[in-house]
Amino acid sequence: MTFNQRTALVTGAGRGIGKAIAEVLAKNGVTVICVSKSPDSCGGVAAAITAAGGKAKAVPVDVANGAEVTKAAEALLAEFGKIDILVNNAGITRDGLVARMSEEDWNAVIQTNLTSAFHWTKAIGWPMCRARYGRIVNIASVVGLVGNAGQANYAAAKGGMIAFTKSIAKEFARRNVTANVVAPGFIKTDMTAVLNEEVQKAAIGMIPMQRFGDPADIANMTAFLCSEESNYITGQVFTVDGGMAM
Ligand code: NAI
Repeated sequence: MTFNQRTALVTGAGRGIGKAIAEVLAKNGVTVICVSKSPDSCGGVAAAITAAGGKAKAVPVDVANGAEVTKAAEALLAEFGKIDILVNNAGITRDGLVARMSEEDWNAVIQTNLTSAFHWTKAIGWPMCRARYGRIVNIASVVGLVGNAGQANYAAAKGGMIAFTKSIAKEFARRNVTANVVAPGFIKTDMTAVLNEEVQKAAIGMIPMQRFGDPADIANMTAFLCSEESNYITGQVFTVDGGMAM
């Protein structure tokens, strides 16, 4: 994969999938801006990348807060001159059946998982268009394609992210900015570690490859979509799920 000394911003880079994405990009010579809510987690990831010889900066931002995102994006664009790659990965779950779901849990998931991508894209996507180069990768979920009982808020956010990505792909295509989605299935992270044994067993039963994926599986697909080699791919959804949603 070729990256030509690009700069990337990865949200939710403090752990799990976002951390793996930040690491694989950094290994390929990309300067990585690691964003997460907690300064400790993105700070730890950026420090480890730097210690391994890579280039990284930690920026704590609550992506659910539009004003905070806009302010951080402006400061980073002033500091780095340009951001070539944007990976919207930060996400949360607040599961529950619709009948029992609070409006607060609905809003928190939509705000964190979907509206955040709107704010980052607005702030960073347009400068990419002006520079006539950009790669945007949004991390959705297979749940955004097929739905899931108990996750209406999460599925709506992820399905919304897919439609949002196709729309910006159409808006930005003529300016050489691509936008694609990676839709993971079950991946071994803190997000799935909270599932009880019974749920994990049932999930594995639905996966033809009969195991959860690793964060690196998502990171490798994401990195390809961020590389120069993906230059004629836009508006697409790539499921990485061991065959679950085929
Ligand atoms: P995780 O819970 O391990 O990590 C999430 C990251 O997002 C953390 O670094 C956290 O600090 C950050 N984050 C959460 N809210 C934030 C906020 N308001 N502001 C800034 N940062 C915030 O989750 P995981 O598993 O690594 O998931 C990453 C993405 O992949 C999420 O969008 C998730 O929905 C998606 N995904 C994960 C799957 C899985 O099986 N683990 C399956 C399908 C999709």
